[in-house]
Amino acid sequence: MIWTTLILFHGVLVLFLILSNRSRSKKEPPLDKGIIPWLGHALDFGKDASKFLTRMKLKHGDIFTVRVAGHYVTVLLDPNSYDAVLQDSITLDFTRYAQVLMQRIFSLSLPNHNASTEKALMKRHFQGESLTCLNSVMQGNLQGLLQSETLQDRENWKQAGLFNFCYSLLFRAGYLTLFGAEQTNHNRDSSAVYKEFRKFDSLLTKMARNMLTPEEKRITGSVRQQLWSLLSMVLPGGKTEDTWLQNYLQHLRDEGVDEEMQRRAMLLQLWATQGNVGPAAFWLLGFLLTNPEAMNAVKKEFDSLSLQADLPFDKLQNTPVFDSVLNETLRLTAAPFITREVLRNKTLCMADGREYAIRRGDRMCLFPYISPQMDPEIHQEPEKFKYDRFLNSNGSERRVFYKGGKRLKYYTMPWGAGKNECVGRHFAISCIKQFLLTVLTRLDLELCDPHSAMPKVNASRYGFGVLQPEGDLEIRYKLRCTL
Ligand code: HEM
Repeated sequence: MIWTTLILFHGVLVLFLILSNRSRSKKEPPLDKGIIPWLGHALDFGKDASKFLTRMKLKHGDIFTVRVAGHYVTVLLDPNSYDAVLQDSITLDFTRYAQVLMQRIFSLSLPNHNASTEKALMKRHFQGESLTCLNSVMQGNLQGLLQSETLQDRENWKQAGLFNFCYSLLFRAGYLTLFGAEQTNHNRDSSAVYKEFRKFDSLLTKMARNMLTPEEKRITGSVRQQLWSLLSMVLPGGKTEDTWLQNYLQHLRDEGVDEEMQRRAMLLQLWATQGNVGPAAFWLLGFLLTNPEAMNAVKKEFDSLSLQADLPFDKLQNTPVFDSVLNETLRLTAAPFITREVLRNKTLCMADGREYAIRRGDRMCLFPYISPQMDPEIHQEPEKFKYDRFLNSNGSERRVFYKGGKRLKYYTMPWGAGKNECVGRHFAISCIKQFLLTVLTRLDLELCDPHSAMPKVNASRYGFGVLQPEGDLEIRYKLRCTL
């Protein structure tokens, strides 16, 4: 019996090694499998994807295939060629990999999901007139939270870590705006959700990579349960309002999704709508606090805006300095992978005429953080924060950048691009602008140590949207005038 088991085991092992022993054909991109069978480069990828992919780029050039935990991922790092991926929604698919992540992170399965109906719904609620309404609700929530935070003690400075200050305020205000309209106990509820969400968020990258320890699995299980039950309290009742959340849930019900999965889907939406805005605001305010020249330029621009304060917020569009600061912040800190499943064998045509065969069943991945965003050929001294990088000398927005003598269509890509470009970007920009305007006009806020430098990034988060810091900036603040 024992011999039969051993022989069977060896047979399976040999078969596995043969099947996983792929070799490169001449027409394919350079293949780098790493030395560990099956796992390949998974550990390096997870530890610091930016460092790993930069090393691979130096070794192989701007297109190569790596093995990562049993999958073959072709990484493309030439922004002039990105359209070959972004414009191809026939052989390259966005939803399949998104569904894998949905299952891993949110224990959510939506088999009959119609992504285009959902997207149309989002566009309706996060753009145009609806966006104007959302902005004014958001503004009220931001001011309300800030007021209650500083109400008890208006005289003395309060000390805090900048990351938690920004994330907490924006998360809670965003949550109340999109999920909490019918709640009564706004502050307490939003704080409880934020607290649990941060625990969840801290383990998110490990969940996505299937690398949780047994103890972390237990924690994520219980935090998920906690969040699902907190969110089920805001599941709308009989009243049918024309809000995004009501319509989204109705859309799920129309697809036959049961109540349990609806609760889980709400956590997915909480993450999609709130997971990046707070961290982006942290980097932006951090860069301003550590760059007085940039701070003065933004304050000057905002001072001229407050003269037109009777206009609805999103009509205050003309803020080229703020826009440049935000673009520069996101250039340095937005680092999503843009991943697509290859549905059929494909020939990928690069901008310079090279052609590569891409295999069905593999994944394609763009990582715009390396290029264009941190590419020294496109952005001089790319590691430096330059608040006016996206401004022309006449103060208008700079949109002209080159690589290899060719004008770039994509010179920074925090929102993705093409068919799956972020639908929430206008709302996200408004939230960050409102947050900054509110903080700068209503608070006295300064660094505890005027010489502090920006913290390093948490390298394990490359690939998952806006980065988060390793460490923090200590600030103190107090209310400047009555809200
Ligand atoms: C700083 C904040 C944000 C950043 C940096 C960001 C970034 C991105 C990126 C890079 C993508 C494209 C993913 C891909 O092509 O694979 C994306 C997609 C998406 N984003 Fe955002 N996002 C932000 C905020 C928001 C907000 C506030 C919302 C909703 C209100 C939102 C909703 C979405 C949705 C629904 C998609 C999927 C689009 C599709 O299915 O085609 N995002 N986002």
